Amino acid sequence: MLEHEGVQELRELVAEFRPGDGDLLAALHKVQHRFGYIPKAAIPVIARQLRLSEARVYGAITFFSEFRETPPPETLITWCSGPACHLKGGDRIRRALEAELGIGMGQSTPDNRVGLHIGQCNGTCDFAPQVWVNGEVVGNLTPASALRLCRRIAEGARRGTRDHLPWEAPIPEQDER
Ligand code: FES
Repeated sequence: MLEHEGVQELRELVAEFRPGDGDLLAALHKVQHRFGYIPKAAIPVIARQLRLSEARVYGAITFFSEFRETPPPETLITWCSGPACHLKGGDRIRRALEAELGIGMGQSTPDNRVGLHIGQCNGTCDFAPQVWVNGEVVGNLTPASALRLCRRIAEGARRGTRDHLPWEAPIPEQDER
């Protein structure tokens, strides 16, 4: 729950938006950009500013998959669901990630350290199959290297360091596919 100052900040954030449906998505995007998710306290603030019902605002949050209702995980692994990654065994990578982390797509670990998210092709198919870790491409994955990636992230999260992160310490060897 946001404290009073947070609510005041929310009011100021959305003060520019005009009443009606037209600015609803822009207001939600602005709030999510600031907080990383849409805090519950934002719903009545946005509803009041746009003169919409809270149900209308909440409905938009749940309808559009880009909006989060909970804070983002420390490390977000985005699995590419695009065709090139699919052809190169992306489904096996997905299963390996889900099994190792014990969560499904769209979920985060209970401590909110690591989350899994489905992404679309971003045009870097030369590195298929791939994931993005906090936006950075980690490509040419195999199920085994995907497991190592998860373990490295979990280990770094436990130690509270970032030196485990794959773009700083590339995953070395290639495995059997
Ligand atoms: S299909 Fe995965 S990056 Fe293009």
